[in-house]
Amino acid sequence: MPNTVLIGSQWGDEGKGKIIDVLTAQADMIVRYQGGSNAGHTVIAEGKKRVLRLVPSGILHEGKICVIGNGVVMNPLDLIEEIEMLRSTGIECLNRLYISTRTQMVMLYHRALDRADEAARPEGKKIGTTGRGIGPAYAAKVSRTGLRCGDMLTPEFPDLVREQVEETNAKLAQLNAEPLNADEMVKTYIDAAERLRPYIVDTIPMIHEADRAGKSLLLEGAQGTMLDIDFGTYPFVTSSNPTSGGACIGSGLSPRRIDRVVGVIKAYTTRVGEGPFPTEDFGDIGRELAERGHEFGAVTGRPRRCGWFDAVVARYAQMVNGVDFWALTKLDVMDTIAEIKICVAYELDGKRIETMPASVAELARCKPIYETMPGWLEETSNLTSMDQLPPKAKAYVERLIELSGGRLGILSIGPARESTVRVGI
Ligand code: IMP
Repeated sequence: MPNTVLIGSQWGDEGKGKIIDVLTAQADMIVRYQGGSNAGHTVIAEGKKRVLRLVPSGILHEGKICVIGNGVVMNPLDLIEEIEMLRSTGIECLNRLYISTRTQMVMLYHRALDRADEAARPEGKKIGTTGRGIGPAYAAKVSRTGLRCGDMLTPEFPDLVREQVEETNAKLAQLNAEPLNADEMVKTYIDAAERLRPYIVDTIPMIHEADRAGKSLLLEGAQGTMLDIDFGTYPFVTSSNPTSGGACIGSGLSPRRIDRVVGVIKAYTTRVGEGPFPTEDFGDIGRELAERGHEFGAVTGRPRRCGWFDAVVARYAQMVNGVDFWALTKLDVMDTIAEIKICVAYELDGKRIETMPASVAELARCKPIYETMPGWLEETSNLTSMDQLPPKAKAYVERLIELSGGRLGILSIGPARESTVRVGI
């Protein structure tokens, strides 16, 4: 398999976990390049459902090497829990999972700060974060006070943790939140460091050696294009770059070594948390998509907001990421809808626009311009080839791809590995 970057094209939750799992069969090394335990990649394999937040889902395939890249913010306690969860279901991470010495850490004090900051924001200014400390951890990285995994291997580590807890306590006091106990925190992290020590290495030479030896790399992103700190609906975004450019920054692989980009996109749209969402449906359709699509956050359990497919979002994702192949997911969720709408453009202040406005104030004023297609009202989840698709479903898929640009590579019609039709890849 050529070196592949896999990205989410909407507001996350496109079903990346499953597509990564499908592509992993042909990859040798899987590298997660951004985000942290705000993500939840659900994989159903051999009848078992697992939610992975930090460990690349490649771990579920025997013999694959998995890397947590430098662009990730890694919560050591969550990672230990995940390694234990995998061990208890018969999967050993040791000698297969590697964490970059350059990976920033999300500490309990970042989580406290995230929650206190969110609580202190007035209505309308809340981001609706996952409360996992992601924003504060990335803020610490760019303000050059973050701790990296490599720090866990040094004798100064306990002092560094203590220093950071004390600094955070001052910020928490300003937000009227409870201070944290530095002694307890130091103890917790000394223990975590001992447990994670065998996994921490300099992953840059490792990735390059694998590439030089002709191994296939799969770089997996979390969240999605519209949650990108630069390209998303700022400020209602996450604090990293889920887009394909982030794959190089977050792994240390050169852009010249990336062969193709796969964009995962859902047959309708969802969003968790605050921020504008032009095609959101507040009525029966929104409820039906949520119920049939089990649209509840894999990490937070929050209900996701649901609505029609938005081709403006898809075209924008195509532009920003350079999507070669689309992996279209959850088509089967729409099996029961008699009349389907697709947003083809927006109306902004009386004018038709086809591109994504940069400001959320403008996006909030955008009204979707819809095109309507008949639903197929037949079950699609047992299909094994494109030829078996009901003609109306095929027409819908073709229209989505035509509006979005690029080519269809994978069609997913159910959560299990088997419910996948591969077309061009
Ligand atoms: P944070 O990443 O926890 O700071 O949250 C910022 C925004 O990104 C919020 O709207 C979250 O709901 C959203 N978000 C973060 N991670 C995910 C994800 O994995 N799926 C969907 N939304 C996410």
